[in-house]
Amino acid sequence: MNNPLKLSDLNSLFKKYRKKNLRFKYPLLEDAFSNKDLFEAIKVIMSGQLTMSKKTLEFEKKFAKKIKSNYAVMVNSGSSANLLATFAACNPGRKNRFRKGDEALIPALCWPTSLWPLVQAGLKPKFVDVDPLTLNVRATDIIKKINKKTKVILLIHVLGNSTEIDLIYKVAKKKKIILIEDTCESLGATYNRKFLGTFGDFGTYSFYYSHQISSGEGGMVVCNRFDDYQLLLSMRAHGWSRNLKLQKNIEKYYPKLDKRFIFVNSGFNLRPTDITASIGNSQFSRLDKFISIRKKNREKIIKSLKKSKKWNNQYEFLKINKKVNPSFFGFPIIISEKYKHLKKRLLLKLENLGVESRPIISGNFLNQPAAKLYKFKQNPNSFPNSQIIEDRGFFIGLHTKPITNVNLQLLIKSLLLIDSLDKKS
Ligand SMILES: Cc1ncc(COP(=O)(O)O)c(C=O)c1O
Repeated sequence: MNNPLKLSDLNSLFKKYRKKNLRFKYPLLEDAFSNKDLFEAIKVIMSGQLTMSKKTLEFEKKFAKKIKSNYAVMVNSGSSANLLATFAACNPGRKNRFRKGDEALIPALCWPTSLWPLVQAGLKPKFVDVDPLTLNVRATDIIKKINKKTKVILLIHVLGNSTEIDLIYKVAKKKKIILIEDTCESLGATYNRKFLGTFGDFGTYSFYYSHQISSGEGGMVVCNRFDDYQLLLSMRAHGWSRNLKLQKNIEKYYPKLDKRFIFVNSGFNLRPTDITASIGNSQFSRLDKFISIRKKNREKIIKSLKKSKKWNNQYEFLKINKKVNPSFFGFPIIISEKYKHLKKRLLLKLENLGVESRPIISGNFLNQPAAKLYKFKQNPNSFPNSQIIEDRGFFIGLHTKPITNVNLQLLIKSLLLIDSLDKKS
């Protein structure tokens, strides 16, 4: 028998070992993994082939096909995906590459590991403010900031939404600016029916817990050019030549070297394991279902809030770009101006009532001590919209199963408590 273990044999064990979230009644994500997802991982573990192998390749192929990109390379996190894409973009093996001292445009509302690879690779970051209603940069604001030194645009598609990426893509292409789309928060979202992450030179994704799909930890880089694909493959794994098209030739040129250990480039070790790839692959089959359920849950929450007698425009919700078909994993909420002084108290109240929340990315990144350490020349006050999002924004989870009435009532009740918090001040 090839594989005597069956999922049905394990269902009772899964039931016994599955941990309940005791801290939160409404966590960021509930029951992230199905028994089938975990069974796929168990089969990999039992096979003994834990390191990157066929399961990773299988997931990469399925991913690239679904999002209509020519190539996909899996890595061990979304941060690693950004690191790999950025360093591939300045590699001497690339024709159009950036060099130390060139400038990169990046939204001020960003994630640290979207930014740091740029800095680590010698780029000077120039921050751009975002639109407080869409949470994303306006294409015109990015385009206005392009100058002769701009060589990279690191665009972040925030929380399932996006900007007019087609305009940015056109300008970037004309000016030979390298476009990296950090799509870690927006897997499955499309702009004009084209998947986000597939416009630019590189698109990056995260499969961290609570994202659109999860493999525990994990990420992906996509690209359309074969030479970029070869760079990504080599740099992901030490810079060696294994699995590259040039392997046969290089063996001939270097007959004295062990063909398994020929190093043709600089590199990292950002490889995933076949365990995480098999979980990611299993989850990826349900991406469309997750997207659809999350959208419905979001609509239900907004509708119920607005229907309540206590609704008094306490919150504003994300404005979705017209051409975007969004893909959410979180539900961003902006507290109205009038209530903004209550944010801390509200989040504490939500936590006490069992509703988990998070800030929207890292807020205005220029406020962070790490930004001060690196002495970026721009002033945090130059990004008033990112500041609004930091001061008034947060997000709660959107689950992959239809929201229950109990949870819906909990959310409505907890969120609308904001008025009573004011009275207690
Ligand atoms: C925009 C963005 N980029 C990159 C990352 C990093 O992804 P990971 O946590 O998988 O390293 C995140 C994390 O949530 C993110 O929000």
